[in-house]
Amino acid sequence: MEDFLQIKEKVAEGYLPQWVITDQEVYSLEQEKIFAKTWLFLGHESELKESGSFVTRMMADDPILLMKNKQGEIKAFLNSCTHRGTKLCTEDFGNKKTHTCPYHGWSYNTNGELIGIVAGNKIYGESMDKSEWGLRTVPRVESYQGMIFGNLDQNAISLEEYLGEMKWYFDIMLGRSDGGMEVTGVPQRWIAKANWKMTSENFNADPYHVQTTHRSAVEMKLTPTDPLYASYGHQVVLSNGHGINVITSATGRGANQYQGMPEDMWPMFEKNLSKDQLEVFSRVTNFVGGVFPNLSFLSSQSGTEGNKYNHLQFRVWRPLGPDKVEIWVWHMIDKALPKEYKEKSYRGFLATFGAAGTLEQDDTENWARIVEASQGRMARDRKLNYNNVVNYLMGFDNMEPDSEFPGPGIAYPTCYTDHVARSMHKYWLELIMKNLEVKANGS
Ligand code: FES
Ligand code: FE
Repeated sequence: MEDFLQIKEKVAEGYLPQWVITDQEVYSLEQEKIFAKTWLFLGHESELKESGSFVTRMMADDPILLMKNKQGEIKAFLNSCTHRGTKLCTEDFGNKKTHTCPYHGWSYNTNGELIGIVAGNKIYGESMDKSEWGLRTVPRVESYQGMIFGNLDQNAISLEEYLGEMKWYFDIMLGRSDGGMEVTGVPQRWIAKANWKMTSENFNADPYHVQTTHRSAVEMKLTPTDPLYASYGHQVVLSNGHGINVITSATGRGANQYQGMPEDMWPMFEKNLSKDQLEVFSRVTNFVGGVFPNLSFLSSQSGTEGNKYNHLQFRVWRPLGPDKVEIWVWHMIDKALPKEYKEKSYRGFLATFGAAGTLEQDDTENWARIVEASQGRMARDRKLNYNNVVNYLMGFDNMEPDSEFPGPGIAYPTCYTDHVARSMHKYWLELIMKNLEVKANGS
């Protein structure tokens, strides 16, 4: 308990004790109090086109079967047979009316109801009430702008309430085009040595790493040498530990209008978005941020000057232990774009952020080094610096939010700041401490 009170004190002062990154007890609490209580991303509606379409996903350690039933509703179940617990569906995606267990052959329909038992009448006779043995349902499944989330806590606040101000930014990235977005192919996934908090933070809160970690992009002349290159724009603190960086070019505007999207798409954007949303969309070169606890996104352009293509990626950092994550990455693109644009966008995404992407490799190495250096005795006494809320370069003694920023949230006038990281860790601690205070009261 004392250890946890120490975290509270440090986080309030703008530090993070290093040991919490890889501590096993902290990890167990995170499973119980964060991953079993918050909204976790499952997939996008474009992945489930027809009734019977399914994909298999994970919510932390729980395997999930996500499918569209006969009525066209999206349902999520624990992907486990109710007879002996065998994993029911072993495919990544497909379309089936019935899922049959490979062990003894029980079968389930798209509503998760048990509909067939091998030799059922002879073995179980009348005593068996099949309606009691359907698949276990994920207690809450809700979506916003096509993004499907699940929550293991029946009493959780609604997804929309949880996303809060983030919905406004999701509308720009996901709701700007008629027909919405679609996922290209299947999500890529791989395992990395890393802690989920640090990978989330890297996307949601840390444009400061860009010019050092991704130095190769500078050397190849893909990005400018300016050390402040990724700092221009605003870092915005949102509710419930979420955050976004609205990165602009040095002028404070986007390098190209609407992230360089084809001009014939513009009237559609102007129809679907508000004046303030269009203003932010005009300024941005990259959106990078995330939804607490473990969903991140990046909307950017890849390619060389005059040959650039926009892409949007969403990624889940699924914890596999304090020092391991399974990374899932979805490429998304506006349905309304021409086929050729979509293909070029996908290729650009794979070259940079696919499993073997150049920028991906840079980040992965640093994440591994963080966990390697945080597990020893000495790291238990160390505090890490989350103190950059003062920006001398910009002439502020104490950085004040920019009240002129057109979007919701608390917007700071640079992306090289620790405001979102601190907010994430404070929310993380609030959820962890809730548990500890209950325990301390003996209940
Ligand atoms: Fe599935 Fe027996 S474990 S039918
Ligand atoms: Fe990076």
